[in-house]
Amino acid sequence: MTENTQTAKTDAMPVEQVANLKVVSSEVEQNITPWTVEGAVVNGEQQAVNYDKLIAQFGTRKITSELLERFTAVTGHQPHLYLRRGIFFSHRDLEKILDRYEQGKPFYLYTGRGPSRGHMHVGHMTPFIFCKWLQDVFDVPLVVQLTDDEKFLFKKELTVDQVHKYAIDTVREIAAVGFKPEKTFIFSNMDYMGGAFYRNVLQISNLVTLSQARSAFGFVGESNIGQVHFPSIQAAPALCSTFPGIFGSRRDAACLIPCGIDQDPYFRITRDVCPRLKHPKPSLLHARFLPALQGSKSKMSSSIDSSAIFMNDTPAQIKNKINRYAFSGGRTSLEEHRMYGGDPEVDVAYQFLTYFVEDDQELEQLAVDYRKGEISTGEMKARCIRVLQEFVAGFQEREKAITQEQVEQFMDPNYPRHFASLNNNDN
Ligand code: TYM
Repeated sequence: MTENTQTAKTDAMPVEQVANLKVVSSEVEQNITPWTVEGAVVNGEQQAVNYDKLIAQFGTRKITSELLERFTAVTGHQPHLYLRRGIFFSHRDLEKILDRYEQGKPFYLYTGRGPSRGHMHVGHMTPFIFCKWLQDVFDVPLVVQLTDDEKFLFKKELTVDQVHKYAIDTVREIAAVGFKPEKTFIFSNMDYMGGAFYRNVLQISNLVTLSQARSAFGFVGESNIGQVHFPSIQAAPALCSTFPGIFGSRRDAACLIPCGIDQDPYFRITRDVCPRLKHPKPSLLHARFLPALQGSKSKMSSSIDSSAIFMNDTPAQIKNKINRYAFSGGRTSLEEHRMYGGDPEVDVAYQFLTYFVEDDQELEQLAVDYRKGEISTGEMKARCIRVLQEFVAGFQEREKAITQEQVEQFMDPNYPRHFASLNNNDN
């Protein structure tokens, strides 16, 4: 978000001071919050997001090959390509979820989306596609929070009616990912607030001080009070007692949250308060960002139209955007490219392909051939265009097939959701 009052550190600094910093230390730290994703500035030049450094800054754990081996041993499934390729690269307490799965103890998945416009972009799909896979692997419930309230509070130009409409439109898109209706609850905060949910929101907000919220999110004196309170609303779904329709009166079901790493500050606060509210701390799986078309210095973002491929884009729009905007790791001329080769690590078309090409060997071959200059930038882009057009068109077809009745089912808190595969006597 660029236009909110919740200004990024670098934005909040007077220009002279930023210039000064550059001279003195040649560096402005990278700034990753739920509203801003900016790489560090070194010698006046913006860098790509440094994910290893982020693990250290946030105090999370790297997903190691040992952990993935344990995952396979426990679940009998090979890791998803997002795990194999480090797209989900960081976690908190994933071992605890694997322990529970082994012991037949209950847990569920929680993720969400802030409906700042009617359609998601390809980057938003990352946590959802991954959640669908996890739901298939573990056969557990999933709750999806639509933070229409958040988008209202943080986006000055949106009305309450607009954000609510966007939330409902988003349900169709999320349903099209293929979740099990009998195990999935999708809710708009504006609609579901009340009852058990609001009781938890209250108990959480009661335990978080203004100073804690300020240091986790950088709120300033001009932040509106709704913004300051909002983190308790995003925290509450990590407590299973927020969903009596699924979990009855239990408080012991654990929660696993797949999300982009920018959402971690919310869940640091959540993990702090959980023990005091007699709930297990949620575990997390963090994704890196699908880069903006302009490159890995920022993430694909809804608020910058040219940075993103949207799920309602036409084949022609996809083609034009990639040809026009996708940052190339190739050389300036084809002749030079053939001679010296390109860099797939910074090439956006190649980076996008790492999310979609299933076959590891095929993907590796693309990188090798690009480095040798045997594949040109134009060819890499053409491949990326084809793959994205297919993905988006397939998705649009499934979305069209979602009925109003299905939408209502997903959003009905009283729709019977089975929790049966879990051992209910256990604790
Ligand atoms: P929102 O709508 O900004 O983003 C929804 C989810 O998509 C991730 N994401 C991305 N992932 C990869 N590449 C990108 N370019 C990219 N852009 C966004 C986000 O990290 C997020 O996981 N406050 C939240 C909504 C929310 C939520 C949650 C998210 C409520 N509860 C629990 C995750 C888990 C928001 O505005 O997300």
